[in-house]
Amino acid sequence: MISKCMFPVAGYGTRFLPATKSMPKEMLPVVNKPLVQYGVEEAIAAGMTTCAMVTGRGKRAIADHFDISYELEHQIAGTGKEAYLDSIRNVLDKGTFTMVRQREMKGLGHAILTGETLIGNEPFGVLLSDDLCLNEDGPGVLSQMVELYRQFRCSIVAIMEVPPDQTHKYGVIAGESLKDGIYRVDRMVEKPKPEDAPSNLAIIGRYILTPDIFDIIRETPPGANGEIQLTDALQTQATRGCVMAYKFKGRRFDCGSVPGFVEATDYVYNNVYQQP
Ligand code: UTP
Repeated sequence: MISKCMFPVAGYGTRFLPATKSMPKEMLPVVNKPLVQYGVEEAIAAGMTTCAMVTGRGKRAIADHFDISYELEHQIAGTGKEAYLDSIRNVLDKGTFTMVRQREMKGLGHAILTGETLIGNEPFGVLLSDDLCLNEDGPGVLSQMVELYRQFRCSIVAIMEVPPDQTHKYGVIAGESLKDGIYRVDRMVEKPKPEDAPSNLAIIGRYILTPDIFDIIRETPPGANGEIQLTDALQTQATRGCVMAYKFKGRRFDCGSVPGFVEATDYVYNNVYQQP
């Protein structure tokens, strides 16, 4: 139904300096797997086997990760250590990886517009890999959203409830509740102060976007932090047509922040990780 997923991975990751000075934050491992591989696995499980990466300077390790390492393959072929490569080999068997570079980091909206050339005129997923989402008891978050896209055929944002004093970290929506956990969005505000927030329903890093978003982003002026904000473009899309918000099933860890990353590591080690 939706075959492409965009991964904006060009951000600086300043909250993880100095670790991210020469290493992409998306390559930080949660236990034994880089963050971006969790994201790619979620996208592939949702049928999005073309992974379109919007990268930047200093992000070469991501392209190398999604390629064969001949030397490594040769070195461990036929040894007991091969099992350690199972998960990445599985990803490489199923996925295709395309890349474009964002030359200036002008915000998430700008990153998505940079990726237009890898997507074309079709609906697509967007996954921010610093949001690690896990749903061990059922389908992943992007799979859940594809099901919803089948019904509504419009852009969808994943949301979760956050404490009111945390709204300044997120895009926040207001809308009409259609049924349990599904809202038609009327309003979206990027990083509002608690007193300006229209609700406590915060957008996390999973989206399905219809391709008219590209033209809308082109018309969108810089917003919060002087960046071209995807939330502002989605607000326009909601006004002109339809944007849905979906309270996903599962857990989300903010791995772009140190506390969220540590929490994810602890959770994955105790509940998900299996030694090869
Ligand atoms: P963040 O707000 O987390 O920014 O971006 P960041 O630079 O990655 O991290 P900090 O805040 O400096 O620690 C949200 C997502 O959008 C991507 C980032 O890679 C991240 O996945 N992004 C952001 C881009 O690809 N390009 C941009 O210009 C901005």
